[in-house]
Parts: sequence; C-alpha cells; structure tokens
Amino acid sequence: MTKLFEPLAFRDLTLKNRAIVAPMCQYSARHGVANDWHLVHLGRFAIGGFGLVIVEATAVTPEGRISYGDLGLWDDTQIEPLKRIADFLRANGAAAGIQLAHAGRKASSPIPWRGKFNETDDEKAALAFESWTPVAPSAERHTASSPLPTELDTAGMARVRDSFVAAVHRSDAAGFDMIELHSAHGYLLNQFLSPIANHRRDSYGGSRENRMRFPLEIAAAVRAAWPQSKPAFARISTVDWIEGGVTVEDSVAYAKQLKSLGYDLIHCSSSGFDGARIPVGPLYQVPLAEVIRSEAGVPTAAVGLITTATEAESILQSGQADLVALARQALDDPNWPLHAQRELERGDVYASWPNQAGYAVRNKDRALGLIKT
Ligand SMILES: Cc1cc2nc3c(=O)[nH]c(=O)nc-3n(C[C@H](O)[C@H](O)[C@H](O)COP(=O)(O)O)c2cc1C
Repeated sequence: MTKLFEPLAFRDLTLKNRAIVAPMCQYSARHGVANDWHLVHLGRFAIGGFGLVIVEATAVTPEGRISYGDLGLWDDTQIEPLKRIADFLRANGAAAGIQLAHAGRKASSPIPWRGKFNETDDEKAALAFESWTPVAPSAERHTASSPLPTELDTAGMARVRDSFVAAVHRSDAAGFDMIELHSAHGYLLNQFLSPIANHRRDSYGGSRENRMRFPLEIAAAVRAAWPQSKPAFARISTVDWIEGGVTVEDSVAYAKQLKSLGYDLIHCSSSGFDGARIPVGPLYQVPLAEVIRSEAGVPTAAVGLITTATEAESILQSGQADLVALARQALDDPNWPLHAQRELERGDVYASWPNQAGYAVRNKDRALGLIKT
C-alpha cells in the first residue's frame, strides 16, 4: 500500500487516507448560514475519496468575516445546516473538519471575483450584503483601499476569545470530527503574530513572546473547549515573505507552543500581508512543513501547489509532512484521491469509489482496455 492511502490516527479520529481538502471560502452564505452550495461543494470531495474535508474559514463573530458571504458560527441557528454537511461527509467516508476564523483588519472585504463593492441594490438584498468597521491589533489598514480598523482593547480581545470558545462548542454540536484554528494568511491571529500588523505598546505587542500572547490565549481556550477525544489542528503562515515579518524561526517557536497546548498538527501555509514576495511554484511551501515537523517535533500538513499523486506520495515517503492538503487541485478534480489511487496502486481500486459509481467506472476502464480484471 502507498503511504498516501495508509490510514492515520489523531486521538480518536482515524483518517482513511492522507489526502485532505484545505479550507476554501466560497463567499456564498447569507448571514453566515451554510446552504446547498456548501453541501454540494464539500460533499463532492467526500465522494471523491478525500480522507478529511475542512470547511472554509468560518467566522466566530459577524465582524470577523472576510466578507458578508462567509460562513459563521456565532449563532445557534448556524449549527444545523453545518451538521447536515458534517453528517454527509462522514456518511461518505471523509472526516469532517471546520476552520474557525476571525479576519481582523482584512474583514469587510469585497467578494474576490467581484474585486470591489459593485453590488446593485437588488443584489445587495438577495446576497444579504453588509459592510462594517473591522477590529485589529493596531488601527492600521491592510491596504490603502481597506477599511480603517478599530484597535482591540482588552475587553474586545476577551469578547473575541469568548466567541472562539462558543464557536468551538457549536462545532462540536454540529458533529465535526476536528477543528482547525486559523492563525494564518494575515487574518486576526496572524496580525497579532506579525510585526507587519502588530504595533501595540502593551504586553501583546513588541517581542515575539508578546506577539504570540493573544494567539496562544485563543489557542489554549479553543483546545480546552474542544473534546479531548477530538483532534485540533492549527494553520499558520510559516513565513510572511516580507523583510521584518514572521520568520521560520518565529513559527518554530509558535508551533512548539501550540504542540504543548495539545494541537495535533500544524498546517503549514505562508503569507497574507501586502507586499510579500512569494516564491510561487510547484510544492513551494512543502519545505516549510518539513522544517516545522523536524524542528518543532509536531506532525504537519503540507499545502500549496501539490497537484500530482507522485508528488503527494513522495512528500509523505520522505517524511516532509504527515498529510497533504489540496485546494485548487481539488476544485479542478474533486475525484483526485480516487484518480491518485488508480495511478499509484494496483488491484481493485474501484472498491474505494462509491458503490453508485465504482462498478460503472470499472466497466468503463475495462471497455477501454485500461484494466484486465
Ligand atoms: C477559493 C479559495 C478559498 C480559500 N479559502 C481559504 C480559507 O477559507 N482558509 C484558509 O486557510 N485558506 C484558504 N485558501 C487557501 C487554501 O486553503 C490553500 O492554502 C491555497 O489555495 C494553496 O493550496 P493550493 O495550491 O492547493 O490551492 C483558499 C484558497 C482558495 C483557492
């Protein structure tokens, strides 16, 4: 058996394989509530054979949404539609994860494919359009066109922490198997971590220890509120790719702390602030997962332009990471794990397909002379 299709356990959760879907915002919710789009978008990845599907950045407060179209878990009414998704994922062989997030100063942004706020009045009503003043570690804009955020005071920070905890309880009520704490991509926790966005003069700004303080307070509260039997992952921007920003050394220190708080895996992404010089290319972030894994001594997920089965298998075989996460390649081919297994393994890989499709795809491949069985 290949490493990619070897099961892997985290606490009481066993993933059937090591191919996971990274969280991907769909900007398609009204008032933070999941709908049929989210069910079908995510459900196809379970049908396609991924071992774990992580629901997009789900905001713990309304003002913590990247856009008005984000999912949220700040209200009990948001639980049931997410439960339907978690149940479907599990019923179709995938573990169900959810990423809990707060966008900080990157909140109230336009929907990416629009690029600006160009909604007509009719669209605003249909989409439940909203815009608002974000909160952040410091009262500094993300970019010149971003809204000016309000600096969080200690009462505001306590509200954010309590909102994370409440969203953790709701994630459990929705039946999720794992949660991922979003502390990457220039969003609130990354803003505290990074000298690029954190210019506070109190005990939450300045030294690395101070900049880690609030993210680690959140991380501790989140882990304490999540059942011990269930794993928690944390997503980090391992480097900002900006002079004076977060370095790998900073992230090793952060990952060690997260590990000691009971985080089971670090999902190693990078960047999130304007002006980053990112060396984009195939597998460009895999070395980050490798260094966090070896230097912090914690399991990692590698992500970023991992597209082929052989690349994924080699990342796992060489011990660079414990899981491989796909985002855009999963959109391109939701059946990626099934196809990867057909490429990497011999034998009756069609047994991994859903009953409704496996026998038919086997017959098709037989008719084409691709298999002899
Ligand atoms: C449409 C889209 C939405 C995304 N939304 C999120 C998100 O909600 N949370 C997150 O941490 N990363 C998000 N990302 C980043 C991906 O999870 C992933 O790290 C990135 O796309 C690199 O992986 P890839 O090369 O396989 O696409 C998003 C990416 C895309 C393409």
